Amino acid sequence: MNVIIFGVGYVGLVTSACLAQVGNRVTCVDIDATRIDDLRNGRCPIFEPGLPELLREGTQTGRLQFTTDSAIALEKAELVMIAVGTPPDEDGSADVRHVLAVARTLGRQLRHSVTVAVKSTVPVGSCDRVAAVIREELDKRGANFPVEVASNPEFLKEGAALKDFNKPDRIVVGSDSPQAQRQFRTLYAPFNRNRDRLMFMSVRSAELTKYAANALLATRISFINEIANIAEHMGADIEEVRQGIGSDPRIGHHFIYPGCGYGGSCFPKDVRALAAAARNGGYRAGLLAEVENVNQRQKRTMFHKLAELFGGDLRGRTIAIWGLAFKPETDDMREAPSRELMEQLWRAGARVRAYDPVAMAQCRRIYGERESLVLCDSAEEAADGADALAICTEWRCFWAPDFAELKQCLRRPLIVDGRNLFQPDYMRDQGFSYHGIGRGESLARRELLRSEGSLSAGKKKRPFPAAER
Ligand code: UDX
Repeated sequence: MNVIIFGVGYVGLVTSACLAQVGNRVTCVDIDATRIDDLRNGRCPIFEPGLPELLREGTQTGRLQFTTDSAIALEKAELVMIAVGTPPDEDGSADVRHVLAVARTLGRQLRHSVTVAVKSTVPVGSCDRVAAVIREELDKRGANFPVEVASNPEFLKEGAALKDFNKPDRIVVGSDSPQAQRQFRTLYAPFNRNRDRLMFMSVRSAELTKYAANALLATRISFINEIANIAEHMGADIEEVRQGIGSDPRIGHHFIYPGCGYGGSCFPKDVRALAAAARNGGYRAGLLAEVENVNQRQKRTMFHKLAELFGGDLRGRTIAIWGLAFKPETDDMREAPSRELMEQLWRAGARVRAYDPVAMAQCRRIYGERESLVLCDSAEEAADGADALAICTEWRCFWAPDFAELKQCLRRPLIVDGRNLFQPDYMRDQGFSYHGIGRGESLARRELLRSEGSLSAGKKKRPFPAAER
């Protein structure tokens, strides 16, 4: 099939590379000439395991092309995909300006009937707006061929995107046109073997399905983080509780890992956008607002633990941070918990020594050179001479450090672990003061602080207001 994809961001590139691999002719269109140039010269603008190789394969076979010239690309198009960004606007709503701009281009340049699939995450009703804009432009020039607009949301996870595309759990298509449905069945046949994963539904249901999926996953994370905080205050261990509840098949083990909050390009943005869309539609989505609030608080948890452990004064302290990306296998630092931690530490007068296996360049790009941030070449180097270690991302290379060496590196054997990588008992035996998320050690920490005299049995004023905790 001849497919044109607008937008060479994350979804556009992964989709185009995978569709080209199975034999389609795919042309990627973007208004960013530098990006298109980079792609033509074999440079992949995003970090995704396996993607550069797949893009190279597509370019070499001639099945994958990159251009800024949409008019020429559209001449042979059978199916058009829109995969441009939908950034948040001031109130958190998804801004569909770029999606509608593509719709206008299509209306002006199409010379024949095609199916348009909207892959960008868009608020319910956006595909209808896309169809209206295309129609308006077609009518202006008296073109009367039909253009079908379908919703085809994407459920890729960063770091596992190629696998997710090639072996999807489901392929959601919102369209009631039998002809468009046939086209999607053909397009996705190579990814839909053995078991039928194609799900046809109404356009609006498909649009909402994407938001609902991300909002539910985010809700699970905020829920378990809330329980983790309860566990911490009551001397229970969330890791035991997690396993205890996860073994109920109705709950399951996925997405109930407590941590320092969810980040990335989807969950935070989509939860806010869904709440904003509901609000604009006259419905107050209180649960979604709370999912977001819990997450914001959770992102500050590590800082509060550190502040408490240093008696409320972090001035002049150096904190080592392991992991900057919002999760492993990506260099993406959008809404990453590490950012909240670093920014709070800087505001409190502390310095940071950080290491991440792939996100160092991103970090340099975001924060530039500054005295309060030292980017190190290894985890050990980051820990060297630091007053404490904070773990923000569960990269595999952090799972089994040489604890004796680590203890020697750190000025104080103090670890705040935002990903619960280690067993508290074991860490205690190794001589560390170890503080995870929800591991029932809040009480133990108080004891420790009391014995060290930095928190005098509840008399001392808390360094931060209770509401912040
Ligand atoms: C997510 C969805 O999973 C994907 O289907 C959608 O298309 C895009 O958004 P992604 O943002 O790549 O994908 O990351 P994901 O692996 O889902 O993790 C999101 C965040 O949740 C990360 O910050 C991760 O650390 C956190 N998380 C995940 C938890 O804190 N606990 C968990 O149990 C699972």
